[in-house]
Amino acid sequence: MLHCGVIERYREHLPVTESTHVISLNEGSTPLISAPNLSKAIHPRLDVWFKFEGLNPTGSFKDRGMTMAVTKALEEGFKAVICASTGNTSASASAYAARAGLKSVVLIPEGKIALGKLSQAMIHGAIVVQIKGNFDQALQLVRAITENHPIALVNSINPYRIEGQKTGAFEIVDDFDGRAPDFHVLPVGNAGNITAYWKGYREYNEAEKARNLPRMLGFQAAGAAPIVLGKPVKHPQTFATAIRIGNPASWAAAEKARDESGGLIDMVTDDEIRAAYKMMAATEGVFAEPASAAGIAGLIKVAQQGYFDDKEPFGGDRLRAVCILTGHGLKDPDSAIKAAEEPHTVEANEDAVLEAIGLCEPVTV
Ligand code: F0G
Repeated sequence: MLHCGVIERYREHLPVTESTHVISLNEGSTPLISAPNLSKAIHPRLDVWFKFEGLNPTGSFKDRGMTMAVTKALEEGFKAVICASTGNTSASASAYAARAGLKSVVLIPEGKIALGKLSQAMIHGAIVVQIKGNFDQALQLVRAITENHPIALVNSINPYRIEGQKTGAFEIVDDFDGRAPDFHVLPVGNAGNITAYWKGYREYNEAEKARNLPRMLGFQAAGAAPIVLGKPVKHPQTFATAIRIGNPASWAAAEKARDESGGLIDMVTDDEIRAAYKMMAATEGVFAEPASAAGIAGLIKVAQQGYFDDKEPFGGDRLRAVCILTGHGLKDPDSAIKAAEEPHTVEANEDAVLEAIGLCEPVTV
């Protein structure tokens, strides 16, 4: 069967009509990948799965929401879209806008977005405005601008973004034949995604397509953890630049998802994120960006605190956790190169190569 995008796949759950002209890049239907090595390392009764959202068309989960937001912007007669972004939203917005024939404007914090994401916005023809400030300030600016100008705001405060992103929950439940995971693990930045997933699980449960609901486990970076600390962070800091956010727009909805699901929102240090980032790539062969690793780091942290010891699975005899790997590792090559060992540089002869790879002693003449 020809692969289609999330609006076609889940049309009956989304606010579109027969006459809606759908703008899609065939996003969604991303794979659930088992993580046996990580599972073994984390907890004896836990099966960890990755939902690799880095395999979406622009390399992040944003495409699920952007197909809806841009489709509706076009339907409502807008000629341009705008967003504030730590990078991925700008990449996605500019790609979908290009496809729809709309102009796109993206506001990003100067010097704090990963190279791959910046290159995407540029090549898709967005007007890229780097502000001398952070994401929270950029979001304030685009909110103000769209109040007075006819430009569609495509940040996750746009309800269509949440509608599109909730399809991730549908896919997970469908892949597990109607069973939601016991734990849904994800990084939290502006808090749109945790809001969307919880909405998706609840709607699927109400439609009797999911037999149970997961506990939502969200993780912020310690230097950018307003929800955990209970107050905005004026100068958020973390090497996971995607979640470098101090005043999330969907703060209240994230707390609701946490509380209604019986889950938690906690924080992890940059060192913990870095360790998880390397571990995922080195032990499971899956390369996700640093922000995605915050979820894995959190899972490891709470497991070590005994969080899973008294939990029971919904079905079967093993607990199941799905971790959303929100963005592809290739988005941020600089972080990978900094985190890993440097390549060997040697002369172009066999002895030098053998020496570099530890297969023989250097030959001396
Ligand atoms: N992971 C990645 C890779 C992200 O790009 C983001 C958010 C998140 C996690 C957090 O998701 O904001 O829904 O809680 N990126 C936004 C952006 C802010 O502008 O690309 P959230």
